[in-house]
This record gives sequence, C-alpha cells and structure tokens, in this order.
Amino acid sequence: MRHEPIGKELFISNRKRLVKGLKPGALVVFNSNDIMPSNADGTLGYIQNSDLYYVSGIHQEESMVVVCPDFPDKKYREVLFLREPNELMEKWEGHKLTKKEATELSGIETVVWVSGFEKLFHHMMTMGKVQNVYLNTNEHYRSEILVQSRDARFIEWCQKTYPLHKYKRIAPIMGDLRRVKQPREIELMQKACDITECGFRRVLNYLRPGVMEYELEAEFIHEFKRLGSKGFAYTPIIASGENNVILHYIENSKQCHAGDLVLLDVAAEYANYNSDLTRTIPVSGKFTKRQKEVYNAVLRIQREANKILRPNVVYFDYHKEIEKLMESELLKLKLIDKTDIKNQNPDNPALKKYFYHGTSHMLGLDVHDVGNMHDKVQVGSVWTIEPGIYIKEEKFGIRLENNVVIGKNKNHDLMSNIPIEAEEIEEIMNAKKK
Ligand code: GLY
Ligand code: MN
Ligand code: MN
Repeated sequence: MRHEPIGKELFISNRKRLVKGLKPGALVVFNSNDIMPSNADGTLGYIQNSDLYYVSGIHQEESMVVVCPDFPDKKYREVLFLREPNELMEKWEGHKLTKKEATELSGIETVVWVSGFEKLFHHMMTMGKVQNVYLNTNEHYRSEILVQSRDARFIEWCQKTYPLHKYKRIAPIMGDLRRVKQPREIELMQKACDITECGFRRVLNYLRPGVMEYELEAEFIHEFKRLGSKGFAYTPIIASGENNVILHYIENSKQCHAGDLVLLDVAAEYANYNSDLTRTIPVSGKFTKRQKEVYNAVLRIQREANKILRPNVVYFDYHKEIEKLMESELLKLKLIDKTDIKNQNPDNPALKKYFYHGTSHMLGLDVHDVGNMHDKVQVGSVWTIEPGIYIKEEKFGIRLENNVVIGKNKNHDLMSNIPIEAEEIEEIMNAKKK
C-alpha cells in the first residue's frame, strides 16, 4: 500500500463499538466490493466496500468479515475471510495478503481462506445462539442501485439457505458509527486535505491564459500520486468560463481564457479517506470588480455557515438558514429584488435560480458519507461547507468548499491552510510571474 500504516487499533475499536449496537444473538456479515468490469476483459480500478474497510482496514477483493459476539469459542467471534494466494495468481496480480499480514492490518486473529467460508458459516448459523443476522445494503439516501453488489448476492444466498433466521439491516448502525470520526480518522482526513492543498498550490502557480482544463487536472493528479494518494477522491470538476455554472461538468476539455474564472472542485483521497475542496480562481490572476463582489458574498456565507453548522442543528434547518443568508446577498448583488421575493413560490424561491444545490454533506470513507441527514449534527462528524452563486447570464459562477470537523466549542477547519481570500489567491498567482 502506498499510504502510511493506519494501525490496527482503529479497526479493533470500530468493531468493539459495532458490537455494542447489536442485539443479543447477533451475527454480522460484511462483503468486499466486486472488481467492476469495463469492456472486453477490462476492469475498473478497485474501490473497496467502505463498511468492510471500516471494520477491518482490508483493501483486497473477495474478502469477508463475520462478527459473531456470542460464539462460544472466542476464536470465531471475529473472522476475516480472504482469497488464498497462489503462485499463478501472484504472477499475474502481484502480492496478496497472507494471514499474518491481514491480522497485523486488522487486528482480527482468525483469518480463514474464503474457500472455507460456507462450512464455517454453517457452523456459526446453526449452533443455536445466532438469532439476528445483520446483512449490509447501500442505504445512502441518494444512492441509485443499478448493479447487484456482492453484499446483495450474499443476501439472496443467505436468506435462501437459512430462511428462518431473523434478518436485520446493518446499514443504519454503520451510518451512526461512521458519521462520528475517531481521532485516527481525522488524522487521515487531514492528510488527504494537506495533499489536496499541495495540488491546489501547484495549480495556482501553473494556471495562465491558454492552459487547457485537462492540463490543470494533470497537475493535480501528479501532485496527489507523488504524495501517496491513490488519486482523486471523486471525478474532478475543472470548469472555466461559462461552464462553471454547471455543477457536474467533468469533461475538463476547454481552454482557459483571460478574464474568465475556473472553478476547481478537485480533491485527493488518502488511505481510502476523502477530502473535498472547491476553489474558484481567475485565469489571469486577477478578479474583476464584479467577480470579486460575488466571490466575497460566497465567502461571507461560507464563513457564517461554519458558525451555524453546529452540534444539535438538523442539516435541513441549517440549509434553510443558509438560504436566508443567500437571499440577502443576492439582493445586495442585485440579482434578485424585493418583487421577486414577494412573488416567489415558497417551494421554489427566487434564490434557487442562483444557488441550486445543498450547502453541506458529511465526508469520510465516502465523499457523500453515510449517516442519517435528518438526525442532529454530532460532535466529531466531518462536513463540507460549500455555498455557491452561479450566474448564467453573466457567464460565471463561484463555489467555495472547505471540510470541517464539528467541535464542542467550535468547528475545526481541516482546510484552514488552503488559500481562500481573493487577495491571497491573487498574490500567490502573481508572485510566480515576477
Ligand atoms: N465534489 C462533490 C461535492 O462537492 O459534493
Ligand atoms: Mn462536496
Ligand atoms: Mn466538492
């Protein structure tokens, strides 16, 4: 692996906290993700199942974790199943985890080759103690599930083979656990943010009129990989000129022109943890008066939001507060007027013409991380704060996005070192030209 060792203590403590949330007579199964096919005999880069990773730290395909706290023999209360390496497999695919290495990574003492799964699992399911079988599904509120996962195939097999056990959902429990980050997780997320910062600073130095958006993408990825990241946390958005009003512009194929802004929603992963940065910067190193007016309006909201997104607030109430702030900024910018507000449809207020996405989401092993958005915001959860104003008729938009840990007394900004003031950005961009 290319990242520093995480330390098995994190995963041991994650499993301890998992067990506390289970009913008596529980058995939980986590499956790794499949390697997804592309075309012909091609495959996409491997993305581990975040829940399996959370309880084991294992980033290898065809892995399973079974947790069975009431199993009489202590040895089998936690079992990790792995592909058995062989000479031919290693000739083609390289090194696979040995049992000893897997124990060192995960803290799980019992590692069994996955070929032995059904026999051991049958023993666990039939020894009389197991009543509640927790299985895993993707219950992210915005997920669109078009492809059957390994977990979903396992659910079909398990329910068919053992129809009379009680089946339960592990996803809500995982959401509750994963949304509050452990100190080691915060360190890894800080590292992801620091790598992102290096990429951003490199781009500040590189950007000038005539550069292609994809050249900026190349600068970022060079820096990310050089620093031990596997790469982008999500498909990068590098949108110059009028494209920066398109939220999911990912083509990154246009030339950056003098006078335009380029919106960079680009960030690194580190050790499977994500960061999520957006900055909007002037191609020629200087904002116009109007661009700066809008920029500072977004920055004011971004900073206010960091004071409102606090423990015990519910996300949707917070977002409404931000919309109120946005409305008053849009009035000052003369993008809307009092009549627009008076005549507006409350379900589609006037401000939505210029601010048409959510203000924040949780962040962690997934970029849009798990955890119930209707619950109160928790101390220790990590959120993005990302307001934006997009003005199609003026052919530019601005979004600013930082990542913060919700603290008891105040939030801790993991991106506080990343330049955000318009003047600081201009200064850095112009220093290089001297
Ligand atoms: N980069 C994805 C997002 O900001 O939500
Ligand atoms: Mn985001
Ligand atoms: Mn983003």
